[in-house]
Amino acid sequence: MGSPRVLLCSPDHFDVVYAINPHMVGDDGRLSEVDRPRAVAQWHGLKNAYERLGVEVNVIPGVAGLPDMVFTANQTFPWRTADGSLHVLLSSMASVERRPEVPYFRRWYEERGYTIHVPDPSWGLLEGMGDLLWHPTRPALLGGHGFRTSERALIEIEALVGVPVVPLRLVDPRWYHLDTCLAPLDGSRALVCPKAFDPVSWDAIEDLFPDWISPVEDEGERGFACNLHVVGGESVIIDDASPRTAVLLEELGWNVVRLPMTEFRKSGGSVFCLKMELPRSES
Ligand code: ARG
Repeated sequence: MGSPRVLLCSPDHFDVVYAINPHMVGDDGRLSEVDRPRAVAQWHGLKNAYERLGVEVNVIPGVAGLPDMVFTANQTFPWRTADGSLHVLLSSMASVERRPEVPYFRRWYEERGYTIHVPDPSWGLLEGMGDLLWHPTRPALLGGHGFRTSERALIEIEALVGVPVVPLRLVDPRWYHLDTCLAPLDGSRALVCPKAFDPVSWDAIEDLFPDWISPVEDEGERGFACNLHVVGGESVIIDDASPRTAVLLEELGWNVVRLPMTEFRKSGGSVFCLKMELPRSES
C-alpha cells in the first residue's frame, strides 16, 4: 500500500461568522473571535507535521465567504473499491451556510478521475468523514448519527460502499460529529468520550474496542482530544490542549505530535476535522 495522503484546504478565508455548533460562541453568547494570522500559522503547522511524517499533502484553495471550508473532513467521503477504482460520495450538509462548499470539492475529485456519487435527498443529512470513521483493522465503518448525519444515510452508505456500517447515536451537542468523540486507535483500542453516546451505541463501542480509554479529565471536551489523527499506524497528531492525554498515548507506545489548534477550536474543530484522508495509491 502507498503512503498516507490527505486533502487540506488553505485557511485564508477561515473565520467564525455564524454559529452552527456550541463551540462557536463564548460563555457570553457572542461569536468566538478568530485571530486569523494565528489560524493561518497553526494550519501551516499541521501541513508541516504531515510532511515530516511522510504524508502526501494535497491542498484545495479556500473560497471567500465559505469560512468553514477549511474543515475538509466534512464535504465528501472518498474510497477505493476492490477493483482499484476511486469513488467519492458528496455530502448533504446540515447547515445552509456550508452547502456551497461541496461543489468545489466535487470539481477537485472530478479532475482526478473519481466516480462521483450524489446522495438522494431521501437519505437525509450526511457530513462525510466527520461522521464516518474506518475501523483500523476490519473492512467496516463506524457511523455517527443524530446531529449532522441521518441514520438512513448510514444504511444507504453500507450498500454503496459495500462494507458494514456500525451506527452510533450521538446525544450531546458538544460532540456533534463522531470524530469529536471517538478516535479508533487499533484493532481493540479507541480513545472515546462515553457521555457522547446513547447506551445502546456505548455497548457497541465496548464490544468493538474492549481496551477503550478516555481522554484525561476534561480534555475530551475542551481539548478536542478525540479529534486526533492516527497517521500510518504509529503516529498520532493531537491538539496541544490535550497534554495529559498526549502523555497517556505516549505511554501506550504512540509517537505523539502535539499541535496548537486554538483558533480552529473556536469553530468546533481541530486536527481530524482539518483534513480528508484520501485513498492511498495502489503501489
Ligand atoms: N464549524 C464547523 C461546523 O460546525 C466545524 C466542523 C468541524 N469538523 C469536524 N469534522 N468535526 O461544521
